[in-house]
Amino acid sequence: MSPTLTAIAEQDAGLSGAKGFPEAVAAMRDLLAGDLEAVNAQILARMDSEVHLIPDLAGHLINSGGKRIRPMLTLAAARLLDFDGDDHVKLAAAVELIHGATLLHDDVVDDSALRRGAETANTIWGNKESVLVGDYIFSRAFELMVAAKNLDVLKVLSRASGVIAEGEVLQLATQKNIDTTFDMYLAVVEAKTAALFAAASQSGALIADGDETQVNALRRYGYHLGVAYQLIDDALDYAGFEAELGKSVGDDFREGKMTLPVVYAVARAKPEEKSFWRRVISEGRQNDGDFERAHELMRRDDAVADTLSCARRYAERALADLLKTPENAYSAALAELAATSVSRAS
Ligand code: IPE
Ligand code: IPE
Ligand code: MG
Ligand code: MG
Repeated sequence: MSPTLTAIAEQDAGLSGAKGFPEAVAAMRDLLAGDLEAVNAQILARMDSEVHLIPDLAGHLINSGGKRIRPMLTLAAARLLDFDGDDHVKLAAAVELIHGATLLHDDVVDDSALRRGAETANTIWGNKESVLVGDYIFSRAFELMVAAKNLDVLKVLSRASGVIAEGEVLQLATQKNIDTTFDMYLAVVEAKTAALFAAASQSGALIADGDETQVNALRRYGYHLGVAYQLIDDALDYAGFEAELGKSVGDDFREGKMTLPVVYAVARAKPEEKSFWRRVISEGRQNDGDFERAHELMRRDDAVADTLSCARRYAERALADLLKTPENAYSAALAELAATSVSRAS
C-alpha cells in the first residue's frame, strides 16, 4: 500500500482524512482547474437553444452550483493515467449533463422544492418544463459523447444512462413498501447513483487507454464511492441540515422512500412501533411530529449510525481499488475524496 493511501485508509476517526469533504472537493477542483474550466464552457455551450426556456431553466440548475464530483472523477481518472489529449473534457461535460438531466427528472419524481440551495426548476417553471428540458439535456450529453469518438466510452456512458432510469423506476417499486430488504435497497442505489460514478471514472480510464486492471480498478472505485455517497445522502435526509445540504431534509420520509435508515429502523422496531412505520411509510398518513419520532427511533436503534458504518465499508473498498492504479497527485486526490465522503454534511 502506498504511504499516502495507507495514511488515509488507517485514519480511524470515521475514515475522515486530515481534511474534510469540502476541502477534498476544493483540492480536487484546484488540481483540475484548467480542465474544469473547459468542462464548464462545454456545458454552457450545450445549453444554448433558440427556445429561451431551455437555456433559462438549464442555466438555473447549472448556475446554482453543484459540486461537479462526477466530471472530476472522469478528469482525474484520465489524468491519473497520464492522458494528455482533450477528449476527456467532452466526456466529463457529458457526465455532468447526464447528472443534471437526472436531477431535473428526480426533483419532479420526488416533488422536491430545493436543489443546490435554490428553488427547484419544477417549482419555478413546472413539472412538464423540467421533464422536457431534462430530455433536451440528455440528448446534448449524447452529442458530446459521440464527439469524443470512442465506442467503448459511448457504450459505458449510454448504458449508465439507462441504468439510472431503471434505478429510479425500481425505487418507485420499493417506495412505501416496509418489507424492502437491504438487497432491494442496494439494487436501487447501485443503479440510480453508483452506475454513473462508476461509468464516469471508467470513461476517464478508457479515454486514457488504461490497461484492463486500471480500467476495472477505476470503475470499481467509482462504484464503491457512488454507493457510499448515496448511503450518506440517505442518512443526511434524516440527520442533515438544510442550510448545509442545499436540499430539504425530510423529503425521503415525506415520500415514503425505503432508504437504509428506514430499512434498519423497521427491522429493529418493537411490535407496536411497526404500526407507526406502516402508517407513515406504507399508508403515507403523516402528522406533525412524525418525522421527529422517526428520527428518534432511528437514533435509539442506531439506524443512521449503521447506515454510516455501511457507507464507511464502501469507502474503504474504494480506497483499496485505488491501490491498483499508479500513485500520483490524482490518485491521492481521489483517495482523499473517498476518505472524506463519509463525513460529509453537504
Ligand atoms: C445529488 O448528487 C444526487 C445524489 C446522488 C445524492 P450531488 O450531491 O453530487 O449533487 P450536486 O451535483 O453537487 O448538486
Ligand atoms: C438522486 O436521488 C438522483 C439520482 C441519482 C437520479 P435522490 O432523490 O436520492 O437524491 P436527492 O436527495 O434528490 O439529491
Ligand atoms: Mg431526490
Ligand atoms: Mg429520488
